Amino acid sequence: MPVSVTKIWTAFGISPNTPQRRLGLPLLLAAASVVILVLGIGAYIHTNSSARPPKDKRSLAQLAQDSGISMENVVFWHRLGVHIADMTFLRPDRDGIPLDDVQAYRSNLLTRRSHPRADVQLRPYRFNYNKSDVLVLLHIQKTGGSNWENHMAVNLMTDPPPKCRAMPDAPHRLMCSCVNGKGQDWMFNKNCVGWPCGVHPGFMELTSCLDKWYDAQVTEDRKRRYHLMTLIRDPVTRFYSEWLHIRRGATWKECRLHCDGRDATLEEVPWCFDGGNWRGASLEEFLNCRGNMGFNRMTYMLANLSLSDCYRLESNKTREQRDEIMLASAKYNLAKHIRFFGLTEYIKETEALFQKTFQGLKFKRSIEIKDAQTGSGYVMLSDYVWNRILDMNQLDVRLYQYAKDLFLQRIEAAGIRRPRRQYEAKLVSETFTYTIENA
Ligand SMILES: *[C@@H]1O[C@H](CO)[C@@H](O)[C@H](O)[C@H]1NC(C)=O
Ligand SMILES: *[C@@H]1O[C@H](CO)[C@@H](O)[C@H](O)[C@H]1NC(C)=O
Ligand SMILES: *[C@@H]1O[C@H](CO)[C@@H](O)[C@H](O)[C@H]1NC(C)=O
Repeated sequence: MPVSVTKIWTAFGISPNTPQRRLGLPLLLAAASVVILVLGIGAYIHTNSSARPPKDKRSLAQLAQDSGISMENVVFWHRLGVHIADMTFLRPDRDGIPLDDVQAYRSNLLTRRSHPRADVQLRPYRFNYNKSDVLVLLHIQKTGGSNWENHMAVNLMTDPPPKCRAMPDAPHRLMCSCVNGKGQDWMFNKNCVGWPCGVHPGFMELTSCLDKWYDAQVTEDRKRRYHLMTLIRDPVTRFYSEWLHIRRGATWKECRLHCDGRDATLEEVPWCFDGGNWRGASLEEFLNCRGNMGFNRMTYMLANLSLSDCYRLESNKTREQRDEIMLASAKYNLAKHIRFFGLTEYIKETEALFQKTFQGLKFKRSIEIKDAQTGSGYVMLSDYVWNRILDMNQLDVRLYQYAKDLFLQRIEAAGIRRPRRQYEAKLVSETFTYTIENA
């Protein structure tokens, strides 16, 4: 049953990894080509598909009422040029079936789960960087992690304060020495220590590498306690942003993909491109490469992949079983193992929760949000493109729904106020049911 919900988001330049100034023209060109691609495919589908619902003549108010989506949202989307015909929403209904996370995500809903109290309640921790505590940033690509890491390295008030200098290749980023009074690195952050565990290490790379790296430092004579933290971002936006980054020439070839004592082989994880990189790849090409490590990246970077047979080609479990295990493990790690996580879309709330969680770590100024994150950079993807990205990232969608619910409950429990956003998902209870409005 086709359910179509048109999504809007701030895609262009939203990533803090993006060197904003140099992007004007290429972005415009990229935008233009996406629009052309989307229009072309849209027109093709429109003329070739009889499953397309006829033009809907309902009023906005009627639409809001039928869909259960707030009038604010409907008006907001409408103002941005989304046609009413594209908005077929799920409709709450007493006789329906339970809402699953992908369906909920499609209709901008969020299920409110009953998490164990211990997972939700604020657990303040007196962080002592002079002793055993080490903060470890698990930086998933295109989640706004660079902006956050820079903020952490430069703006935390510590004694001694960080010593920073501009990076030669990126003057707007700083390389800092984040050491305590004994000269020990207390923050595992790319701006402080670089990438000694391979670029963008995930849960597997970090847990197998941290001790080795720290033990090799001359200043280390302590028992360490690692506190992992990460940022989670809307999966469709994140994936789209990864495509923009890859087509600018990024490869992340230095990722280790470590599991069960060894790195993945090229046979297990082949490159999607011949030659040095994938510069100029179209979104279609990007989506069509089966081995693209951008798919469900957040899930596999947070999971204990050992449980789902790593990257091995041979396994006596099916792909579906391995995926489910991987997702369950990522959720488990996020709730229990990762000491702190935030959401890119709620970065101010993330910052507030961080300071309440780690007592003794205070920022001297608030994190800067790039212009594009505040709403000036909207782009609309057609249902076609949005659905294609969503289909290929279903594990990340399910992880995101879980993480977002947990995060919102945590900031609520911590008493952090959250201004409502117009396009924000609506919370529904775990027992919420619905039927699909048949088009
Ligand atoms: C850490 O040690 C420095 C001296 O090396 C001291 O000035 C500072 O107050 C200590 N900070 C904490 C949080 O214990
Ligand atoms: C991952 O799972 C394996 C298998 O259960 C276990 O032996 C290992 O300790 C786990 N690794 C981490 C870092 O939790
Ligand atoms: C699956 O493989 C593992 C080792 O790879 C083995 O221990 C286990 O017995 C196998 N299970 C089945 C049902 O064959």
